[in-house]
Amino acid sequence: MTADPPLLPVPRTAVVVVAAGSGTRLGAGAPKALVGIDHRTVLRHALDRVFAAAPAQVVVVAPAGYEGEAEADALAAAGPRRDLVRVVAGGETRQQSVAAGLAALWGDVETVLVHDAARALTPSALLDAVAAAVAEGVGEGIIPALPVIDTLKRVSGDEVVGVVDRSELAAAQTPQGFPRRLLDEAYARAAGDGADYTDDAALFAAAGHPVRRIAGSARAFKITTPADLERARLILAAEGAPAAGPSQAGAPRIGIGTDVHGFSGEGVLRLAGLEWPGEPALAGHSDGDAVAHAMVDALLGAAGLGDIGTHFGTDHPEYAGAHAEVFLARTAEILAAAGYAIGNVSVQFQGNRPRFSARRAEAEAVLSAALGGAPVAVSATTTDGLGFPGRGEGIAVTAVALVHGLAPAAR
Ligand code: CTP
Ligand code: MG
Repeated sequence: MTADPPLLPVPRTAVVVVAAGSGTRLGAGAPKALVGIDHRTVLRHALDRVFAAAPAQVVVVAPAGYEGEAEADALAAAGPRRDLVRVVAGGETRQQSVAAGLAALWGDVETVLVHDAARALTPSALLDAVAAAVAEGVGEGIIPALPVIDTLKRVSGDEVVGVVDRSELAAAQTPQGFPRRLLDEAYARAAGDGADYTDDAALFAAAGHPVRRIAGSARAFKITTPADLERARLILAAEGAPAAGPSQAGAPRIGIGTDVHGFSGEGVLRLAGLEWPGEPALAGHSDGDAVAHAMVDALLGAAGLGDIGTHFGTDHPEYAGAHAEVFLARTAEILAAAGYAIGNVSVQFQGNRPRFSARRAEAEAVLSAALGGAPVAVSATTTDGLGFPGRGEGIAVTAVALVHGLAPAAR
């Protein structure tokens, strides 16, 4: 007879991660939780940190129709603890989404944390701190909150009609933690009274229970607008800077990038940052500008920061259809955040068309400007009728880039 494998203890804590919102204010063309920050989505980053906290049942509330994508993120974040994951579909409002998550909790869960996936960089220590404070309390809700820094005014239209004492105010974050039984009851009550509460603590307080705050974290900010997404990217890029690179201030590093696209796209050709009316278009994700794509790979490769798929792949829907300037400017930002300055880029394409020399200076100026002024040289060559470029089926591009690490003081 073989012995049963040892059973892992069932956690008494659960985290409901609400990720079902549409992300209207982000405007990325996909549900916010599934938008890429770097090579990982908002949801994946949130879940990586949830799984780094003390073991808990994790209920992911996904946008309806995206349960598969959410589950893939959840299982990747869970590692060996796949047993902890449940994925359910959310509702029209955040409150309905939380209710759907609560309905999926195991019977023996005693403490529930409700967490916004949109607060993707929330440290795992904050989840542990909220859970610990709930366990110590007697029937209290616990919220992380930060002091309000701005001077606040009471207004009526454009008129300032009073001051607000900011020492009386705090900015609420998530995860918000509650005794499970009391939160279930409060949600049942709220479903009956038809009110829509702004957060779980307000709903819990409306049921007559006390709520206490603990210190929040600047890292628990909510990704709401494109600027917030940019902030998250810069934080991650700065943290991910390879230790051996920028510390060798001034040491040059070289990178290579290649790209090939066929002439089967729709619309007008975009190449080397320019529009070429009357020329056949290149196919590809975004605008098919193979010159720009090879440059991005060369630059990222030189800095050891991955490749174009890492930062701009199909899991970054905000770049669909974007032009060279957007890719290159973003690449320059990623390098700068990681402590690299761009030396120069040299790029050459092989193809019969377009006839390039007359617009070389124009292309170089556009590409250089997109990189913040770093010199860019572009050349073109035919292949004597040989190979796919020679047959006019497409073009092949090679780029090399030089970057150098900045002294820490300059970063
Ligand atoms: N949320 C949810 N279900 C909803 C609405 C929101 O699960 N029906 C989640 C979001 O996914 C997010 C969190 O609640 O993680 C906070 O909401 P918010 O930041 O407002 O996200 P969205 O509603 O997606 O964004 P917007 O308001 O800009 O549309
Ligand atoms: Mg919303």
